[in-house]
Amino acid sequence: MDAYKQIFVAGSAAPLLSQPDPLRRKGFDLNLVVDRITAEAVDVLSFTLRAADGAALPAWRPGAHLDVFLPSGTQRQYSLCGDPNDVSGYRIAVRRIANGQGGSVEMHRLRAGDALRVRGPRNAFTFVDAPSYLFLAGGIGITPILPMVKAAGPRGHLIYLGRSRATMPFLNELPGAEIRADDETGIPDIADLIARAEPGAAVYVCGPPPVAAAAERTMFAGNPTGSLHTERFSAPPVTDGREFRIRLARTGQTVRVGAGETALTAIQRAIPDVVYSCRQGFCGTCKTRVLGGAVDHRDRTLPAAERDDHMLTCVSRAADDALVLDL
Ligand code: FES
Repeated sequence: MDAYKQIFVAGSAAPLLSQPDPLRRKGFDLNLVVDRITAEAVDVLSFTLRAADGAALPAWRPGAHLDVFLPSGTQRQYSLCGDPNDVSGYRIAVRRIANGQGGSVEMHRLRAGDALRVRGPRNAFTFVDAPSYLFLAGGIGITPILPMVKAAGPRGHLIYLGRSRATMPFLNELPGAEIRADDETGIPDIADLIARAEPGAAVYVCGPPPVAAAAERTMFAGNPTGSLHTERFSAPPVTDGREFRIRLARTGQTVRVGAGETALTAIQRAIPDVVYSCRQGFCGTCKTRVLGGAVDHRDRTLPAAERDDHMLTCVSRAADDALVLDL
């Protein structure tokens, strides 16, 4: 799966709800060069990136990611998974998904020496100070977790899930991790794993949506003093959605948005190459001018000055029955 990620970050207060981090900040535009490519697991490559001019790179903290602009124009977010103290380069890792949205396939076509434009680092998956940590990573979800595990040291415990060890990157960098490969120990019960968090622990989860959803249910029910921080790989399910229509002003087409789908998904049926990236309302790529109708804004990214006449189609919806968009 491409590493565009839906990021929910819960605050440290209990009970816990996942919410986008309001502390989004602008990144830096950087011209980098692919310095080294390393096979880390089946279909997973890591990329070490350096400044084209050899300069030191902006600092970052565990949980940060880069916006990567691929040669095709596709934009994707990838977590930084190297050493935050090493400002000579950034490391990201990408699992190749053959039938994904194309970002991972294009990343895997890169070669050492290729130029790559990025913006970053930015951090929407904040690493908080806590008396103890429970980390739960699924597959390529280890990427943002890896620097956190190293930073937490003896206060942290990592449970690393995967289909098999061969598919799990960076095992050799995680000697203290509890490895739960499906082909060795079977499908894990996420609730049981999360329930092992100590009172007051910060619980970090990065993996497929069912893993994050199970973590949220368990934390709500069982650990009211802890905090839950999750990062996902795909768009969140639509909640409280109602069907509405969108008229595309430039083409005259009307698309119907189902109650359980996003406006972006519906627009893609009419405009397959409409631009988007994170699909979770934080990157701003899908921002679209609204020419008619009221918007039910479901993001915390758009500035107040743009909320009357723009929307993020990946998360926001019509407040009434219809919208007219400048598409
Ligand atoms: S695609 Fe990132 S905000 Fe919509």
